[in-house]
Amino acid sequence: MPDTLTILGLESSCDDTAAAIVRLGPEECAQILSNVVSSQTDLHARFGGVVPEIAARAHVEKLDLCTETALADAGLRLADCDAVAVTAGPGLIGGVLAGVMFARGLATAAGLPLLGVNHLAGHALTPRLTDGLGFPYLMLLVSGGHCQFLLVRGADDFMRLGTTIDDAPGEAFDKTARILGLAQPGGPSVEAEARSGDPGRFALPRPLLNRPGCDLSFSGLKTAVLRERDALMRDGALARQDRADLCAGFQAAICDVLAEKSRRAIALARDAGAGAFAVAGGVAANGPIRAALVRVADEAGLPFSAPPLALCTDNAAMIAWAGIERFRLGHRDDPGLTARPRWPLDATQAPRIGSGKRGAKV
Ligand code: KG4
Ligand code: ZN
Repeated sequence: MPDTLTILGLESSCDDTAAAIVRLGPEECAQILSNVVSSQTDLHARFGGVVPEIAARAHVEKLDLCTETALADAGLRLADCDAVAVTAGPGLIGGVLAGVMFARGLATAAGLPLLGVNHLAGHALTPRLTDGLGFPYLMLLVSGGHCQFLLVRGADDFMRLGTTIDDAPGEAFDKTARILGLAQPGGPSVEAEARSGDPGRFALPRPLLNRPGCDLSFSGLKTAVLRERDALMRDGALARQDRADLCAGFQAAICDVLAEKSRRAIALARDAGAGAFAVAGGVAANGPIRAALVRVADEAGLPFSAPPLALCTDNAAMIAWAGIERFRLGHRDDPGLTARPRWPLDATQAPRIGSGKRGAKV
């Protein structure tokens, strides 16, 4: 094994095209040499959601540019890298395929090993890149496309403790924003609006809270917001304060559910030796949600880890890092690597079906 390991990572599984270079130096010192993300938010904005065909085409157009920029930012040539790592799933198939085919071409042309990375593993292993967390630890992945509690026991050893049975929380934020006429992405809009709202005015549900276990559900909450909005609008237009109160009530419900389910997941993970509670995904950017999760970790006496926002949301540094972890374990993929739209991290758990920003839930 060389004393430094430099890996180019590529990500194209949803609506961000990304390329990054991460180097692992002596004494486990990891460094992000470059991290380029080209967002497609503007391309999809008028459709109210990610359009898979548009996403795939944009990835094809942007992958080489992002890669060139990532290499230039790092001051490296492709030949200076030790391997190419690419998201091989789960995600929107057209985008994943674009990334995999591009990575196959690069690796073959440069004679480099190829590593197919699970996108969820990229998120779940990020706290090792940012905070050097040791195994095992508990990870809560909360974004527009994912929601799961994972016990991370090794770089390719994950146990799913709970997952959403319908929407992801980011998706619920986005749909709530749409219902209330707020801008996308919905998370930041709802959070801003909630600041001047009364979280106690509407009695919104806390789905699955009275059921044991760590599974979650968010679609009923969004429907409850819709019902309250329709009732208010029967008396005329929605007043500014109504909207703020609905946002505050919705956000408080999400906080309560995530906090209680985290308590239960921590209890399970603790028994399995977890030494920290980590969170990743765009929803982890939400101030009150993050504060609620910090409180839960404090109550349990567990260290809390949340990567900086740029590494919480989709990026390629996490794919390069997961590639490093796989490379160190001796994994290499065949040049004929294929894209997997579904790829559960824990194959022993029954899949849950729901449809979201990324297509069917994994
Ligand atoms: O991780 P991410 O960038 O992409 C994936 O879905 O994988 O997460 C995006 C999601 C969106 O649904 C967005 O509304 C949500 O994260 N989000 C937030 C906040 N910022 C982004 N949700 C709640 N509060 C926020 N401040
Ligand atoms: Zn993601």
